[in-house]
Amino acid sequence: MHKIAVIPGDGTGPEVVAEGLKVLEAAGDACGFNFELQEFDFGGDRYLATGETLPEGAIEEMKAFNAIYLGAIGHPDVRPGILEHGILLALRFALDQYINLRPVKLYPGVDCPLKDKGPEDIDLVVVRENTEGLYVGTGGFARKGTDQEIATQVSVNTRMGVERCIRYAFELCRERDMEKKLTLCGKTNVLTYAHDLWERVFNEVASEYPDVTTDYAHVDAICMWFVKNPEWFDVVVTDNMFGDIITDLGAMIQGGMGIAAGGNINPSGTSMFEPIGGSAPKYTGQNVINPLAAIAAVQMMLDFLGEKQAAALVEGAIVKALSSGDIKSLSAGKMGMGTREVGDLVAGYVTEG
Ligand code: IPM
Ligand code: MN
Repeated sequence: MHKIAVIPGDGTGPEVVAEGLKVLEAAGDACGFNFELQEFDFGGDRYLATGETLPEGAIEEMKAFNAIYLGAIGHPDVRPGILEHGILLALRFALDQYINLRPVKLYPGVDCPLKDKGPEDIDLVVVRENTEGLYVGTGGFARKGTDQEIATQVSVNTRMGVERCIRYAFELCRERDMEKKLTLCGKTNVLTYAHDLWERVFNEVASEYPDVTTDYAHVDAICMWFVKNPEWFDVVVTDNMFGDIITDLGAMIQGGMGIAAGGNINPSGTSMFEPIGGSAPKYTGQNVINPLAAIAAVQMMLDFLGEKQAAALVEGAIVKALSSGDIKSLSAGKMGMGTREVGDLVAGYVTEG
């Protein structure tokens, strides 16, 4: 029995989560596993009503679940940063979800903005460190509001944090068993302390994985290569900030936010799965938002929960839905069908097997 906490969140979050759960239900029936859902109302509306982002005890409560399924956090009436820090980053940090896993896979039938690139060229995974770097919040102001103001924001990189992230990436690369190539993405020519540590640890750990080929690319160059030669990449490991940036680029080359999902992983704790596109508040309640990213998040969650067969079934159903030609575009409002209808289509393919 898998215990899953559901946080539908803000904007279109609840709509896409409903479709993800529809597909989860179909997968459970098809593969014979059970799960128990409990919903939590964390998000902008709750914050506006109560002043609370995560209520007291919420973190402890989350630890009792095997996984968290998150819709989206972000509300037009709440100042940017409050919900992101108070809910999303708070959960990632407190639950020690130290990996942000972002598959970048172009499925057949999906429009790719890159000229002459197809599904055979775009199939990579970014392993983003998820609890350190510039996200720690170390720094501050001095002489605030004066002409001499100083603002610092320090990137925190610990030996332990860097090593566990890099080890995870090597293991994943071996397990994927594709090109078996792991690329470290950094900026060693400028970040001569932080990324010196990353490079040293990377090379050290690499010696334990002789079957994995290693490579290095500066973050600016990787932005170029993702567009020019995405087929060069298998698994990419990087720090929190760079990972945040290159995974949005990754989402675009796999067809956009309509299909991009991510996992916030604590390999021995409670992990959290989400579509990465945000709450898209202007589309709320119109049945036009694309639920495929949220459905792909369910696939990742099933994989993490050990339901490998169900995960493969869901991925197969996503591929069938995309190749059916029924979905005209992955963009909100342009799909040629509604949010619920896309959910029905995928759930139907899951049931058919
Ligand atoms: C993401 C998001 C978050 C991040 C924001 C909402 C804090 O952009 O999951 O990539 O920067 O990590
Ligand atoms: Mn981001």
